[in-house]
Amino acid sequence: MSHEIEFAYIGVEVSNPDALDHMLTGVVGLLPGGTTIEGLRTYRNDECSRRVFVQEGPLDDCSVLGFEASSTEAFENVATRLGAAGFDLSEGDDALSAERGVARIAYGKSPWRLRVELVQDLAREPTPFFSPLVKGGFQTSGVGAGHTALAVTSFEDSERFLLDGLGMIQSDWIETEIMDGIELEVRFYHCNSRHHSIALAKLPFDLGKSLHHFQVETNERDDVGLAFDRAWAAGCELANGLGVHDNEGAFSFYATSPAGFLIEVGYGTKRISEPWDGNRRYDRISRWGHQPIPRA
Ligand SMILES: [Fe+2]
Repeated sequence: MSHEIEFAYIGVEVSNPDALDHMLTGVVGLLPGGTTIEGLRTYRNDECSRRVFVQEGPLDDCSVLGFEASSTEAFENVATRLGAAGFDLSEGDDALSAERGVARIAYGKSPWRLRVELVQDLAREPTPFFSPLVKGGFQTSGVGAGHTALAVTSFEDSERFLLDGLGMIQSDWIETEIMDGIELEVRFYHCNSRHHSIALAKLPFDLGKSLHHFQVETNERDDVGLAFDRAWAAGCELANGLGVHDNEGAFSFYATSPAGFLIEVGYGTKRISEPWDGNRRYDRISRWGHQPIPRA
């Protein structure tokens, strides 16, 4: 499937980078990607040198999302559309490109409490990716690093940014009632054959944080179970145990990171085909499972 962009990287600012480091490497199975010029720790889940940037600070939330354009033409198209939608980008300098490990970068504000960066040519390692903990590796080729789910109180500005600007397409949506009669609507958006690169969860109140979770997808089903076992053994808080999502069909679980946001490890997400005719309403998040797991 031809596409203009992939989800390239996520940057988070957390108060305890050491604790998150243990979770990302020892539980999720990411590889350390080295430290940037400005001292940020990085992690990777494929041959790309940097897929996760971790900065120390009080935010405990996502600070930046990066999208990689597939060509110079795609870069220009996306930047132009974002400007027309009211989200002008500024061209980054060589120092910023070096910090992110990209050939070209432009950056701007998003409708959320985080910055968005449009980049070209992520740096890649010369040797194949191999995680000793996730021997089957992660699914990223042509679909980006994974997905993120953000909390919003309205879809309006977000959809102008995602649909009109980035050129994403809605995959499907969920409307359901969560605890205490609170209505939840989650919309899912794709920019390549990954079912969604971004999901927006609309709640009737402001959570005070943007990032609900970010997800990485394994190539092998057993690697999800093995990650769950590692999370269990490490004493991680398990926000949602193993389960299968109804709309995207992914087998996954969610562990709560030391920063409060969740990390989802999944397998078997539905792929987008063209033309996409699956944009419909679902009324439940999961076919089964994803129960909160109490820890003693
Ligand atoms: Fe997810």
